[in-house]
Amino acid sequence: MTTVTFTLNGTARRFTGDGDMPLLWYLREDAGLKGTKFGCGIGSCGACTVHMDGMAVRSCGLTMDGLDGTRITTIEGLAGGAPDGPERLHPVQRAWLEEDVAQCGYCQTGQIMAAAALLAETPEPTDRDIETGMTNLCRCGTYLRIRKAVKRAAA
Ligand code: FES
Repeated sequence: MTTVTFTLNGTARRFTGDGDMPLLWYLREDAGLKGTKFGCGIGSCGACTVHMDGMAVRSCGLTMDGLDGTRITTIEGLAGGAPDGPERLHPVQRAWLEEDVAQCGYCQTGQIMAAAALLAETPEPTDRDIETGMTNLCRCGTYLRIRKAVKRAAA
């Protein structure tokens, strides 16, 4: 039994339970945040990407006992405290819509979280920065549109 406190999308959370539970399970089943997706479960695909203290991390590979004192952000909290309505989108989300990136859409929340972290670290990424910095998989092959959206969000 583990007890940890952390911040989830700006709200303080306290978790008491199985410390080996993957963060992804907690997000989807306990916190009801279904925007973070399960893909491979072994840290390979990136569908489960969230931010921990601003860094992109794969939530299927993080366990609850490692969360104490951290700040977790999911796609639901990416836009922060912006007002409701169309403005309540992070610039990366807006660029994704403008470039019509999604095909099936399943991997896209993870892609957006990875892109937002990349841009926070590298505000004007080159194609190579995007290729090396974003290793999330997309079975529909939307990589060219993803790259365009990242560049649009950076502009
Ligand atoms: Fe976590 Fe694939 S579900 S990396």
